[in-house]
Amino acid sequence: MALVRLAAFCSHGGSNFAAIADAAARGEIPIHVALMVHNNAQAGAKEKAGKRGIPAVWLPRSRFADDDAYAAALIELLEAHEIHLIALAGFMQRIPSAVVGRFRERMTNIHPALLPLFGGPGFYGMRVHRAVFEAGMKVSGPTVHLVDEQYDHGPILMQRAVAIDDCASPEEIAARVLTEEHKLYPEALGVLARGGFEVQGRRAMRVPTR
Ligand code: GRF
Repeated sequence: MALVRLAAFCSHGGSNFAAIADAAARGEIPIHVALMVHNNAQAGAKEKAGKRGIPAVWLPRSRFADDDAYAAALIELLEAHEIHLIALAGFMQRIPSAVVGRFRERMTNIHPALLPLFGGPGFYGMRVHRAVFEAGMKVSGPTVHLVDEQYDHGPILMQRAVAIDDCASPEEIAARVLTEEHKLYPEALGVLARGGFEVQGRRAMRVPTR
């Protein structure tokens, strides 16, 4: 099967990006990670891209007068690299709706909690894990979902519950969930690249693939 060309979007460490790139390089998923876009000059993801020979492009929103100009630059960049799939991996910047529309059902995000719980505006980074901890949850875990115009809202592709009843701090929950993110995100992208999801309203159904 021909490899699907993917761009990862990162703002920070990029451990999910690295997990996806490494699964692809090992031939576990039919994906070629062709580009990493970041909006933070200091992003650790940059070094991870360099080590793996993946082109990294720094494209901060602040360089553009408005959303339209930012969207046009993103689309031009993605087309130049013949990108078919986008994986948001810790990307702390709203994606302009023109890009969401262009990549409808071809753009994913990973959220470090079981959506629709602990998601939406304001739920990012350690804030998510603190809220999960304070709620006394016994399970948490990553959600991979399609991106639509609202935060943490598009159809859910995959989730994995992780027991956290013995976690003594939000940091412990974060570490446990992150380990699972690194397995779940490549897996979900592999199924998506194979055409293994069919979206019906809010539900993404698994369908057989060849
Ligand atoms: C992850 O916890 C992910 O769920 C969230 O941002 C974090 C990114 O971590 N969206 P990394 O940059 O992949 O290490």
